[in-house]
Amino acid sequence: MKGGRETVTSPRPRASLSWDDGTIVVVDQRALPGEYRMLRLETVDQVVDAITSLAVRGAPAIGLAGALGVALSAYRHCSDGMTDEAAVRSDAARLSSARPTAVNLAWAVRRAVGRLAEGPEAVLAEAMTMLDEDAVVNRTAAERAADLVEAQFPGEPVRLLTHCNTGRLATAAVGTALGAIIELSERGRVTEVLVDETRPLLQGARLTAWELGEAGVPYRLCVDSAAAAAMAQGLVDCVLVGADRIAANGDVANKIGTYGLAVAAARHGIPFVVVAPESTWDRELADGSGIVVEERASTEVTDFAGVEVAPAGAAVFNPAFDVTPAELITAIASEDQVFRPQVSQGTSPGAGSLGEVPA
Ligand code: MRU
Repeated sequence: MKGGRETVTSPRPRASLSWDDGTIVVVDQRALPGEYRMLRLETVDQVVDAITSLAVRGAPAIGLAGALGVALSAYRHCSDGMTDEAAVRSDAARLSSARPTAVNLAWAVRRAVGRLAEGPEAVLAEAMTMLDEDAVVNRTAAERAADLVEAQFPGEPVRLLTHCNTGRLATAAVGTALGAIIELSERGRVTEVLVDETRPLLQGARLTAWELGEAGVPYRLCVDSAAAAAMAQGLVDCVLVGADRIAANGDVANKIGTYGLAVAAARHGIPFVVVAPESTWDRELADGSGIVVEERASTEVTDFAGVEVAPAGAAVFNPAFDVTPAELITAIASEDQVFRPQVSQGTSPGAGSLGEVPA
């Protein structure tokens, strides 16, 4: 498999990203659930394309792909022990700006570039360290979030709702919010997960449902607009989602539709929990108003599975993300902490507040 696609049958490589023989191998998330296909990325152009086309997606995963992309560039631009740092920095800038919203991408690329003066091996070592760290970070944040939910519903099985995909495909290991859901299920605590399909690109239907099926967690898929009705009917005890960027005050950018979920959850007194690594925090931003929200192609909305479903020339509003105000968020769990925006702002935690668990 060189510079292209390979359909993998058995055994499936489990890692969503890896470094192999001087190239980056990723699960092609565009092909799921129909096909478990790997992409081998040999050039920075291919890495940028994989990120922009969502072959690789999810905030931690695009960060890791970006860091490995810097390693790829460093090897390509090294001869006789000399690295053309300017060329690598130019590639790094392209990688960093492939998608604007998830801060993990710029963070990881910057971290990899930080080792550039030591040569390609050091850049690759840094990227591989980030891959290893992501596994630990996922596990710790997921367990912390699972503890939080268990503390709120002691001894009771819970009905959860999630949006987009925050699992192993979106990270290097078990995932963030989906990692917590799978952890809760392994503890025997999950009755059912309602999975928003996540229009327009169906990360919930295509990827999260697939991952939950793989993990043996009971789920039902619903259209995004059914989520509020499910809450009103008492079908949801807690909402768990991931994040692409978190401002210093706890405002959270995540997949479009997250804000609406948070509003509905607040209306029904349902805890709304965000699970994300510390690398998703952007503490240089005081609040979410400064977060750049990616707008994607209109065809994602006007076409469905290659068929036009809107009048030719229809104008489209297609933001890939929205920003949920901190006041609607019950808790944000990372590998290091549980941040409760309402507590930190000194406002009442409200009906959806989660019980105290060790931070
Ligand atoms: O456009 P996507 O699919 O990359 O959006 C992904 C999300 O919004 C996820 O919820 C977020 O990146 C967290 S992944 C652990």
